[in-house]
Amino acid sequence: MGAGPDFGCYNIADLREKARRRLPLGVWEYLERGVEDEAGMARNRAGFERITFRPRVLRDVSSIDPSTEILGEKAPFPLAVAPTGAAGIMAYGGDYALAKAAARAGVPFTISSASTMDLEEICEAGGRLWFQLYFWQDRDLSLDVVKRAAALCDTLLLTLDIPVVPNREYLHRNGFGTPFRLNTANTLDVVRHPRWLMGVMGRYALRGGVPSQANLPDRLRNKVTESAKPGALFKQDNLVWDDVARLRELWPGKLVLKGILRPEDAEQAAKLGCDGVVVSNHGGRSLDASCASIDALPDVVSAVGSKVAVLLDSGVRRGSDVVKAVAMGAQGVLAGRALLYGLSAGGEDGAFRALELLRQETVRTMAMLGARNIGEVDRSLLS
Ligand code: FNR
Repeated sequence: MGAGPDFGCYNIADLREKARRRLPLGVWEYLERGVEDEAGMARNRAGFERITFRPRVLRDVSSIDPSTEILGEKAPFPLAVAPTGAAGIMAYGGDYALAKAAARAGVPFTISSASTMDLEEICEAGGRLWFQLYFWQDRDLSLDVVKRAAALCDTLLLTLDIPVVPNREYLHRNGFGTPFRLNTANTLDVVRHPRWLMGVMGRYALRGGVPSQANLPDRLRNKVTESAKPGALFKQDNLVWDDVARLRELWPGKLVLKGILRPEDAEQAAKLGCDGVVVSNHGGRSLDASCASIDALPDVVSAVGSKVAVLLDSGVRRGSDVVKAVAMGAQGVLAGRALLYGLSAGGEDGAFRALELLRQETVRTMAMLGARNIGEVDRSLLS
């Protein structure tokens, strides 16, 4: 990974602060906030913070190799970029910028089915691309998108931890729900962020208008200011294991279930021929009272770690978090908000900075622990 601009940011928290200042409150809240009392988000962080290491010494750590394999392919370090819809409202062409940053860093990038840019356009960024699916009301639409993605992406993530719409109470107040409605507060807020207004929305306006929900046929696309057309709302409350089995028949590449917290669900995924699971509580954005995903990891690893890839997300903010997850048996982590902070702070270069920081911290943590390669990162390092 070649160095890019550092933005005066030396950790993910610095990028977060820059992002918070740049974005209108409504966009910031959509990026940052959890649900209800945000106890789940705090629990994700507390889970990581509770885990500590017991370092080894005198191990010649002058050369550290953090490279690994994720879902059967080489990766420069154990991290992939999580799917995050609405990146396009945080930076102009946000989905593409994230994908480009990931391609530069050599890490896999997951395209969200809720992106505001067509998956084909995002794929022009190159690199290793995964596609994430939420089912639309009209299942045929979903399957059409899956077919399009199959031509370009090697891995499909099916997200399961949002069976119903999460309780994002703040959206009622800030008017940034979908459809987006202007009110006095959010109009003032937007006007107070001219850099975002001109640099993001202004550029969209010059190029033909408000971002719309992409990946749908033209007739069903709705702008973020419009209600979804019949059939084009995400609907997952009627999903069952048979749907996974059907998707397994249809999808030629790797199939991964995202949002798994229970070992028996992971076992069922393995039985149906899935290639992996992402232990995740959606970054504390779905069920506020959910356990921390890092706390759910050991049971899932014991159940299926020898059969399928176990990845983890929710709360990753430091390279030491990456090393903790790997030490506990994860093949790697996905990072969501960390990348969005970088993107909002500095576009593609900002997202790349986030990846560079996480990689550097991963390498430094490994050196501190006396672990020279990923094979040497295991449970014995935990205290
Ligand atoms: C998400 N996430 C998400 N997941 C998914 O499967 N499809 C999606 O479209 C989105 N969209 C999305 C938007 C935003 C703004 C955020 C912050 C998150 C969840 C994401 O993939 C991942 O599970 C969490 O972000 C992980 O937690 P951290 O890294 O943000 O703490």
